[in-house]
Amino acid sequence: MKTIIEPFRIKVVEPIRLTTREERRALLAQAGWNLFGIHADDVIIDLLTDSGTSAMSAEQWAAVMRGDESYAGSPSFYRFESAVRDLMPFRHVIPTHQGRAAEAILFSIVGGPGKVVPSNTHFDTTRGNIEATGAEALDLVIPEAHDPDDPHPFKGNLDLARLERVLQEEGERVPLVMVTVTNNAGGGQPVSLANLRAAAQIAHSHGKPLIIDGCRFAENAWFIKCREPGQDARGVKEIVRDMFAAADGMTMSAKKDAFANIGGWLALNDDSLAAAARNRLILTEGFPTYGGLAGRDLDAIAVGLGEIVDEQYLRYRVRTNEYIGEKLTALGVPVVRPVGGHAVFVDARRFLPHIRPLEYPGQALAVALYEAGGIRACEIGTVMFGLRPDGSEVPADMDLVRLAMPRRVYTQSHADYLVEVFEELVLRRESLRGLRIVSQPPQLRHFTARFEPLS
Ligand SMILES: Cc1ncc(COP(=O)(O)O)c(C=O)c1O
Repeated sequence: MKTIIEPFRIKVVEPIRLTTREERRALLAQAGWNLFGIHADDVIIDLLTDSGTSAMSAEQWAAVMRGDESYAGSPSFYRFESAVRDLMPFRHVIPTHQGRAAEAILFSIVGGPGKVVPSNTHFDTTRGNIEATGAEALDLVIPEAHDPDDPHPFKGNLDLARLERVLQEEGERVPLVMVTVTNNAGGGQPVSLANLRAAAQIAHSHGKPLIIDGCRFAENAWFIKCREPGQDARGVKEIVRDMFAAADGMTMSAKKDAFANIGGWLALNDDSLAAAARNRLILTEGFPTYGGLAGRDLDAIAVGLGEIVDEQYLRYRVRTNEYIGEKLTALGVPVVRPVGGHAVFVDARRFLPHIRPLEYPGQALAVALYEAGGIRACEIGTVMFGLRPDGSEVPADMDLVRLAMPRRVYTQSHADYLVEVFEELVLRRESLRGLRIVSQPPQLRHFTARFEPLS
């Protein structure tokens, strides 16, 4: 059959409140045209993030009931540890309440003033945790990643020549090398197995560990299977094991590729680093057999890890985004290509060329999507990145709108509805107007800034 169906049926439903356009106009005005200020109950399709928004399976809910809340030595922890190790065979697995807690622990130990941490592209929280220690977060993704039209199959790859140069010239300042799979900040683009292995070899030749930020490891492995020469006959689980066998540790947010609503971990091979991490964990998260989590969360993650490497699921997951990407392209809506594993990124600057970057075309498109169809998406552009520490503004490299797909939550008719909303916006795109900011905080303004539409 040519239709790739959702490989699940629905047992529990959450009704969606269908608002009217007039209601949404009023809600936008109340929220200062900032979608983070809209109540989730007033959203019809919520594509703000794929993090923590997965639908858990019947088996995961059953596992929640099996969760054991013992303070020390809970069987939930051992089930969690064994599920992680089945895919990522690291010596030490340290649970945390989410991904950024694992990053904070790691960089509180290896970071510090004068240090430099290279990666393909650091995710915001990773960058924040590195910079909070006084260290520098360095992005070394391949140049193709910066061109939204370049069809390179692995736009998350590290630029290996630049990595080698950084390690040669500033090696003593580098505590470790990181690779984020898939590269979220770069559009959910994958990293090839060959690139991961080469990065590990370069890092190891300079005596540095390679740490994977593995949030979307299963989507990355699926792309390796589909796109990397010689990998198509191999199982996803085997590819996942190969990815992590190249590394010396990982950070993880279980809110992504573990189908959990909360959770994460730090895994390491190095005994002394792991001992330091556990000491820090006790201070900030909890005892090492629960981290910042309840036993039931650990059990939900353990089951989720078994489900996420299912190839039927991954085929459907990636196809959903391709389907939306193809339909939007056919309508003439410019999207970042190839579409990513967890999201479709729309190039709002090209879609709305009459709106100048400092009038926020990404925000204008996100607001229009909500007003027209109750769809919540996320601006990733000048609102998010354009404010400098001295208070001045510069356009971001790109003005994108991210349509992030929660896992196992929406169906094909939700996708078709999304496309119809775009169809309407295509017809009246010249009528869309930019916005101006009327109040904003000094940092991370996208969360709380208030806007006003330009007339
Ligand atoms: C690539 C990447 N790393 C780290 C994180 C942080 O994870 P958490 O939100 O669980 O703290 C995220 C979350 O979106 C992410 O996408």
